[in-house]
Amino acid sequence: MDKAKKFKWKFFLLFIAALIFILCITVRTPRMYRAIPKPQGPPKTCPLQISERTITPLNNTKHLLVSAYMDQREKGLDIRIIGIFKRDSIQPLYCLFCCAGHLSSKTTPTTILQHSDNFGFPFVTTDVMCQIPPNCIATHVGLLTQPDSVKVFNQTWLPIRNQKTNEKEENKLQFNFTVCISNLFGDYNNVLQFAQTLEMYRLLGVDRVVIYNTSCGPDLDRLLQSYSQEGFVEMVPWPIDHHLNPSRGWLFSQSGGDVHYFGQLTTLNECIYRSMDRSRYVLLNDIDEIIMPYQHNNLMSLMGMLQQQHPNSGVFLIENHIYPKKPFGGNETGPLHQWKGVPGFNILEHIYREEPNRKIYHPHKLIAQPRMVQQTSIHEVLKKFGEYFKVPPDVCRIIHAPISMPRPPEQLHLDTRLWDFTDKLLPRVTTVLRRAELLGSQGQE
Ligand SMILES: *[C@@H]1O[C@H](CO)[C@@H](O)[C@H](O)[C@H]1NC(C)=O
Ligand SMILES: *[C@@H]1O[C@H](CO)[C@@H](O)[C@H](O)[C@H]1NC(C)=O
Ligand SMILES: *[C@@H]1O[C@H](CO)[C@@H](O)[C@H](O)[C@H]1NC(C)=O
Ligand SMILES: *[C@@H]1O[C@H](CO)[C@@H](O)[C@H](O)[C@H]1NC(C)=O
Ligand SMILES: *[C@@H]1O[C@H](CO)[C@@H](O)[C@H](O)[C@H]1NC(C)=O
Repeated sequence: MDKAKKFKWKFFLLFIAALIFILCITVRTPRMYRAIPKPQGPPKTCPLQISERTITPLNNTKHLLVSAYMDQREKGLDIRIIGIFKRDSIQPLYCLFCCAGHLSSKTTPTTILQHSDNFGFPFVTTDVMCQIPPNCIATHVGLLTQPDSVKVFNQTWLPIRNQKTNEKEENKLQFNFTVCISNLFGDYNNVLQFAQTLEMYRLLGVDRVVIYNTSCGPDLDRLLQSYSQEGFVEMVPWPIDHHLNPSRGWLFSQSGGDVHYFGQLTTLNECIYRSMDRSRYVLLNDIDEIIMPYQHNNLMSLMGMLQQQHPNSGVFLIENHIYPKKPFGGNETGPLHQWKGVPGFNILEHIYREEPNRKIYHPHKLIAQPRMVQQTSIHEVLKKFGEYFKVPPDVCRIIHAPISMPRPPEQLHLDTRLWDFTDKLLPRVTTVLRRAELLGSQGQE
């Protein structure tokens, strides 16, 4: 009897201990960015340090790692690790894998591909590609500076995303259109433009907007928190300023710094891979730009037509057109009145299009099938599988309403395409501003 009691007691204690242990593990397991399903882990025999950060320094080097993706589009390669590498100190690297709970016995060599666009900066977007060893169901990857994996103690692991599951077919994609907004920084606080542009995207059929956030102004923060709770916006922390001295300019010789424009080129590439298995198209443009169809009511009908006419094209170039603000007698009634005190400008007032000077370089922005892109830049892709198609501006063009206008526009054309959406847009914008509690706080009522 006594023995049995003792046994029961011991069993009970053991149970409690196990419970506490499991609880600790669960709580301590770093949580990945929520919108990305994390591979189940961490396996017992692989070390536990999994990076939950979007920017992870690579030990014993000056390089930064961002994320790892399964990418088997090129023969003999399985993994693409996107990073920001210091160009003058690139050394051989080796991939080490966590294979369904076990450490891979051997490392595999890597192919290191610097992107061709660096604009003279010391740091450049870089892909590290490698093969998974045979008989390994890889869940996590780490990089070593030496081929031997003997001294692997505090190895930092990146989860491998875009793992193939059985039923990931083209027609089961979660989204039709994802907009990638790279690099929100400084105290940018143009709330009205952000809310109007996001609602305009939604009216055009965009399902998800990914925003890489270094910092932003207080009201915009509030708006974006609200959008991200709702799920339309996916905020990705981008603390590049904790690791490098990011440049606010695009050319090293002009502005100095470590990396082009807060790492914009890296975030655009990251967004392509993040969207690869879940979005039919990605739109690479800024928040002050709207890719606007002029002959269709939404992006899906536009792309339906373009894709039918150009079945081999995977990347569509859209002309950028600037709409500087020109004062005009707007109506002081209606929803606009309710927006009083909300920081930022009203994009509906940007209805004069500047005639581009076609004698000089005319920049484009992109609509791309992510699965056709290997490496991208801002106005073009650097490596791809399909063909380009330059979309004529009367079919689709970018309405670009910049915050500042450096030079007085010469030739302007009235273009009120945005007004075709006014009736739907205004109440939606009012709703999201109210939801974020941005209305009425400035002495309204
Ligand atoms: C691993 O990291 C921890 C803290 O980060 C440190 O205390 C420990 O000495 C490291 N061990 C090795 C073998 O590097
Ligand atoms: C990497 O560097 C960090 C910070 O210096 C340190 O805590 C960690 O132990 C290092 N890991 C390895 C594998 O050297
Ligand atoms: C994508 O577009 C198709 C065709 O217009 C539509 O049937 C489908 O519901 C859309 N999917 C999403 C996620 O919006
Ligand atoms: C953007 O990043 C800053 C700095 O980390 C943070 O304070 C802010 O809350 C973030 N905003 C959103 C909407 O994620
Ligand atoms: C201003 O209001 C008048 C009368 O309600 C309307 O006819 C006109 O179209 C409005 N103008 C603009 C720019 O909304």
